[in-house]
Amino acid sequence: MKKHDIFEDYGKYILNTYTREKLIFVKGKGMRLTDIDGRTYLDFFPGWGVANLGHCHPKVMAGVRDQIGKLIHIPNNFYHPPQARLAKEIIRTSFPGKVFFANSGAEACEAAIKFARAYGQGKRFEIITTLKSFHGRTLGALTATGQPKYQQGFAPLPEGFKTVAFNDFDALAAAVTDKTVAVMLEPVQGEGGINVAGKEYIQKLRRLCDEKDLLLIFDEVQTGMGRTGEMYAFKHFGVTPDLMTLAKALGGGLPIGALVVKESIAGTFKPGMHASTFGGGPVICKAALGVFKALQQSRGKMLKNARDMGRYTMDKLTELKEKFRCIQEVRGLGLMIGIELNVDGKPVFDECLKRGLIINCTQGNVIRFMPALNVTQRQINQALGIFEKALAEVSPNS
Ligand SMILES: Cc1ncc(COP(=O)(O)O)c(C=O)c1O
Repeated sequence: MKKHDIFEDYGKYILNTYTREKLIFVKGKGMRLTDIDGRTYLDFFPGWGVANLGHCHPKVMAGVRDQIGKLIHIPNNFYHPPQARLAKEIIRTSFPGKVFFANSGAEACEAAIKFARAYGQGKRFEIITTLKSFHGRTLGALTATGQPKYQQGFAPLPEGFKTVAFNDFDALAAAVTDKTVAVMLEPVQGEGGINVAGKEYIQKLRRLCDEKDLLLIFDEVQTGMGRTGEMYAFKHFGVTPDLMTLAKALGGGLPIGALVVKESIAGTFKPGMHASTFGGGPVICKAALGVFKALQQSRGKMLKNARDMGRYTMDKLTELKEKFRCIQEVRGLGLMIGIELNVDGKPVFDECLKRGLIINCTQGNVIRFMPALNVTQRQINQALGIFEKALAEVSPNS
């Protein structure tokens, strides 16, 4: 297909819900993407947080190849080996409990919302979430999302959600009523601009939830699977959530979502209360098992690399802040890094793209760097070199 035909067919046949760059990609390997003209790009935002192992990791591909010739789909009223193995891996690496498999982050969060309501038994149903959060686009997850811009035009939204400022324990405690059943938040807000929760804040939340019998739900759709330098971000805070949602990097590039529920309350969901036709299918589970295998075989090296390279990148960016006054703040955890600018971030994104570097800009002025966990110092230096040139181009006098 010619480039012109591809753009034309997108225009004619695909609903216009995305703002797209005029780039057509045909290949991905590790940290690199190749476009239709054969130009390669260094990808510092692989798959919006999906490709934590880089594009087309051999372990993920091997899992898919192995399964595809045996069994592609089997409904959830039967059993298959990969689902059992994957649930066991998730529980082994997180906390004792049980897993429900969905197909995306929004669906995992939707399952968490339904679970909390079931736990409240109709007497308690309110869920407290935080400003600048992002939980997905389905109606429940969208209402939980503390950003009115995404909700505009979709009223009426479901009842039973309250939103308070992130990292403000008193505001959250004051919002609890006798109808409250859960608190839901990202330990590091991603789409909201890389806002890291304070350790004390999270520990106070844990105590509050214990005192009031509230479910503490961590949305680890973006922070999970090593992104912050720990397998799951909750491990940084010295607490364990009651519910955790996963998606993005779990499937190594294939669509999957998961709700993890602690053992003592897992019986809240009974047969027939929730379901998914495709959730936890054999091929996707084998891909996810490939992700676990790669992380396990690295014997902690990949997580260590995420911590070390994250620190290195943040240090270098902090040095850059001295040079460019447009950089307001550098923040992050592991390889989940945000650079807040006092100028529009889109031209910086555009300049980086022109120079062969893919990054992301969220909230209008926060640049996100989220390279694969196995990124090298050389690749980081290359990306930082391009980023510096882009800043100099866009904001020369700052
Ligand atoms: C923290 C968080 N939760 C949920 C979602 C929704 O995931 P999905 O797009 O797979 O529905 C996202 C997506 O960016 C996310 O970052």
